[in-house]
Amino acid sequence: MTLKGRTALVTGSTQGIGRAIAEQLAAAGADVVLHGIEPVEQGLRIADELAAASGVRCAYVSANLADAQAAAGLVAAATAALAAPDILVNNAGIQHTCGIADFPAERWDAIIAINLSSAFHTMKAAVPGMRSRGWGRIVNIASVHGLVASVNKSAYLAAKHGLVGMSKGVALETAAEGLTVNCICPGWTDTPLIGPQIEARAAAFGGDRQAGIRELLREKQPNLTLLPPSRIGDVAVFLCSEAAAGITGVALPVDGGWTAQ
Ligand SMILES: NC(=O)c1ccc[n+]([C@@H]2O[C@H](COP(=O)([O-])OP(=O)(O)OC[C@H]3O[C@@H](n4cnc5c(N)ncnc54)[C@H](O)[C@@H]3O)[C@@H](O)[C@H]2O)c1
Repeated sequence: MTLKGRTALVTGSTQGIGRAIAEQLAAAGADVVLHGIEPVEQGLRIADELAAASGVRCAYVSANLADAQAAAGLVAAATAALAAPDILVNNAGIQHTCGIADFPAERWDAIIAINLSSAFHTMKAAVPGMRSRGWGRIVNIASVHGLVASVNKSAYLAAKHGLVGMSKGVALETAAEGLTVNCICPGWTDTPLIGPQIEARAAAFGGDRQAGIRELLREKQPNLTLLPPSRIGDVAVFLCSEAAAGITGVALPVDGGWTAQ
């Protein structure tokens, strides 16, 4: 139980990668504030399930991170719901794929707000408390698309490259104060986020969902395996552990070899 006595706030943690990270932080002993856009009763049910399964304290806060004020208030809301976060995982994110000429400006704004600006607001709010306690772990879920590009992802690329750069900067600002700030850069991971891309690929190749997945993996991910979200959770727990106290400012690919090519 390496994280016993710590409190974690994980954004976008009612499903997908965020939920796996929350579950594994709880399994490592951390108390966890879940966050999502679901109504409070629904989120609290998930928090209660996690508390019962792991024996730690859990809470839930709802906030639309497209709204800068809500993002700026999230750390205070988590502190009121459970305790000040020692661990902050910025995981919430959305995707929209489209060529630049037709990319809807409204989707650009939403992706930048949710995938990038929200992490600015939560880090700004969380760092002073971490500093005063002399210990903090920030894990930002970027993407292989924070390191390399693919077509039709201009907003996502801008947000994820921005998140990697911002994280390195905050890592330098806090390196001597007991804090670490790192990014995890997942490749294709088995969550609802990539559903539309799987369907589009399946339609283009005239196959079923499995054919769509095979095509996506064949193109980019050499291990030819959709990552289970728990793979990302494992790495997040590692980055929060004492073993990783010397690691800050890295953007760590967990991508089945994608960015080695
Ligand atoms: N699945 C992949 O292949 C993959 C690969 C690389 C990076 N990622 C990143 O992992 C993170 C998690 O994605 P996922 O794959 O688990 O997808 P997901 O769709 O399952 O989860 C996304 C989460 O973000 C939250 N969210 C969406 N809009 C929000 C809003 N307006 N306000 C607050 N929260 C909001 C959702 O509630 C959800 O919990 C994202 O940042 C994504 O970019 C995913």
